[in-house]
Amino acid sequence: MNNSSLPLVLVTHTLPDGWLGMLKDRCQLVIGPEDANLISKNLETNLHKAEGLFTLLTITIDQELLSKAPNLKVISNMAVGVDNIDLAACTSRGIPVGNTPGVLTDGTADLTMAILLSAARRLFEANLDAREGRWKTWSPTGWLGKDLREATLGIVGMGKIGSAVAERAKGFGMKIIFSDPNPRQEIATRLGAQRVPFEDVLQLSDFISLHIPLTEDTRNLIDEMALQSMKPSAILVNTARGQIIDPNALLQALTNGWIAGAALDVTDPEPLPPDHPLYELPNCLIMPHIGSATWNTRRAMAERASENLLAGLEGRRLPYCVNPEVYQV
Ligand code: DGY
Repeated sequence: MNNSSLPLVLVTHTLPDGWLGMLKDRCQLVIGPEDANLISKNLETNLHKAEGLFTLLTITIDQELLSKAPNLKVISNMAVGVDNIDLAACTSRGIPVGNTPGVLTDGTADLTMAILLSAARRLFEANLDAREGRWKTWSPTGWLGKDLREATLGIVGMGKIGSAVAERAKGFGMKIIFSDPNPRQEIATRLGAQRVPFEDVLQLSDFISLHIPLTEDTRNLIDEMALQSMKPSAILVNTARGQIIDPNALLQALTNGWIAGAALDVTDPEPLPPDHPLYELPNCLIMPHIGSATWNTRRAMAERASENLLAGLEGRRLPYCVNPEVYQV
């Protein structure tokens, strides 16, 4: 709709029909391409007039971009993670930032279990061998993997997604330990999950799954020392953010047998370039950041992001705001 009395909103990516239904009649929308990793030209030229910005996690929102958008009232990220946004800069400009917690918990927890199981049972290697002619017989020792029952799953970050993973893992008979300064204790207690220091998660787990946000404290948390302290039979699973793992240390760990394997839905960088050495390793499963990639989840994320955006445009408090201190000034 092109009604110039309505607030101008930039949507960084083209989304499927219907996902932005809530915004269509209440804003003038300028929409970017489907696969942008940078803010596109048609959006850039409209930044100075924009009152709202609806963005995805691939777009960096920093001081420089904000300085070109003097009329911005709200930023809505269609993601739960907001590490692509300079929150302090937004707060000092008085701009509330919204995210989409809750609606992607189950999708991401399902994908976590899918890649954990794939790594445990070596599905990637087995599928490749079958397709490429290396399946010669039913071999009693072919593609042997690991059992989940009785194995210890160490969860780093027992929040919404971490505890949803724990619930699923319990169904597979896994023993759960976790580290988190502020866990969802009720669920942990119900599942018989035991809270332990972070170092113990590293040392005692057969599978380690990361469910923490990327912050300056968690960047490269899984470094050379952390990887060397894991069991040589351990499998590391990451559906959080790639930068939580030091990529060079991970390459060494997988090549030198410090750990047995990795299952990654997120990498550093993203996308991981096609010639990256991690792709050469049969014990490394790599997915293109698809944790929330179900139709229902992505649509719900778009709707939640739209609710935040409309609230910000109308001067209401965002239902899901990641910098609530913006309201204290
Ligand atoms: C998020 O919302 O932060 C997820 O990484 C998207 O899948």
